[in-house]
Amino acid sequence: MKEKILLVEDDLNTLEGLAEILEQEKFLITKAKNGSEALAAINNHTFNLVLIDFLLPDKDGLEVSEIIIQKNPEIKIIMMTAFGSVKNAVHAMKMGIFDYLTKPIDLEELLIVIRRALKEQELISENISLKDKLQKTYSFENIIGISGRMQEVFRKVMKVARTDATVLLRGESGTGKELIARAIHFQSSRKDKPLVEINCASIPEPLLESELFGHEKGAFTGAYKSKKGKFEVAHEGTLFLDEIGELPSGVQAKLLRVLQEQTFSRVGGIENISVNVRLIAATNSNLEKALEDGRFREDLYYRLNVIPIIVPPLREHPEDIGPLIDYFLNKYIKKNQREIKGVSQAARDQLLQYHWPGNVRELENAIENAVVMAEGEIIQVGDLPGYLQARGEEIMLKRVKQILPQEENQDMNYRERLDMYEREIIRQALEASDGNKTQAAKKLGFTLRTLRNKVTKYNL
Ligand SMILES: Nc1ncnc2c1ncn2[C@@H]1O[C@H](COP(=O)(O)OP(=O)(O)OP(=O)(O)O)[C@@H](O)[C@H]1O
Ligand SMILES: [Mg+2]
Repeated sequence: MKEKILLVEDDLNTLEGLAEILEQEKFLITKAKNGSEALAAINNHTFNLVLIDFLLPDKDGLEVSEIIIQKNPEIKIIMMTAFGSVKNAVHAMKMGIFDYLTKPIDLEELLIVIRRALKEQELISENISLKDKLQKTYSFENIIGISGRMQEVFRKVMKVARTDATVLLRGESGTGKELIARAIHFQSSRKDKPLVEINCASIPEPLLESELFGHEKGAFTGAYKSKKGKFEVAHEGTLFLDEIGELPSGVQAKLLRVLQEQTFSRVGGIENISVNVRLIAATNSNLEKALEDGRFREDLYYRLNVIPIIVPPLREHPEDIGPLIDYFLNKYIKKNQREIKGVSQAARDQLLQYHWPGNVRELENAIENAVVMAEGEIIQVGDLPGYLQARGEEIMLKRVKQILPQEENQDMNYRERLDMYEREIIRQALEASDGNKTQAAKKLGFTLRTLRNKVTKYNL
């Protein structure tokens, strides 16, 4: 996406000249010749950055900047002036102007400052939106778990959140490890500092070291600039290393050193960098087996395994399936703006009895899918994923067998038995409707007339 710059300059030659150069640099430029044009532009569009002349015919640049900043605290402003007065510069900086350039403008310097400003802006806005999102989406209250097993996990989370201890989250895929990691961060005193996540399995080995520890310019082919690694970005915050079992051995050694000494150097760098980072690691693989096979360092394992938290598979806490169903229903009905009122008992039964090898993630996907696909107001068995429906028949059979008395009526013929059950079911429906036949007929899926006939037939 092109970044948008508002260029404010009363000297038309300078305005056109700068605009042309910046357009060549692939920025989207809006031009304003004075303060009021600038403010009008700000009111109608959003910009990433404002490049503004100090001396404008109608208002001075500082005044305009002040108004802009008040409205858009995230916007970056670079001030240009022919008078390199220190007093103005100090005032401008205090006001929150990003940088101050004196005319004649050195184009190279200008581009560097612009890029720096945009980079900073990107980081800030990313961080704000991410934090906003996370705090809303992943606050502790949004982790569902009434079962003893989950309550135990929550207790541990609360306890470790107060410390800086390294936590190792263990559990099958889809059990909620990432969610728990976020909960720990947002319950900790580091909650206003960055939570940086990295998935060790998804980054190719040669890049992983530089992703984690950063690199210096020229450290390897393609390293045109030096770059901070996740450890530096996470300074004073939390670093979440997901799928730690996949960490290549070279990186394991370097990680161990950071854990022991809290210092490291960037790839291609010599300077020792100290960071204060709380580490949370997660894995769904068998680390002990990896130890045996020599794929994972024992010393690192012990460093990471200071506080293990085991997140149980869903089949081991089926009490949570019900609350999770309701939670996800609510979430996806809202998200998709669907007029769905709930799940039929039969569909719920199937969800409750399934063993969920993909854990909460699989349940969440099934519910989202059902919410999106459901034809009526109530999610029916037919709206569930096919593999659940197939099992549904089995479950139904089991339930019917439980309900129907097997032995005692063997001497009655099938017709008599069918009538007997029908009579009983109609009786229950009438009872549940306080004798209101219209309601009972609705419950039974009969017309009122059919119900009346049956009531007469069975003498109800
Ligand atoms: N207890 C829970 N309450 C609400 N949502 C949950 C819960 N557990 C998991 N989820 C949801 O299930 C999905 C999978 O969870 P998460 O990504 O945390 O799993 P994971 O253990 O990290 O899996 P993997 O090992 O595959 O990375 C997410 O959408 C998450 O929000
Ligand atoms: Mg995960």
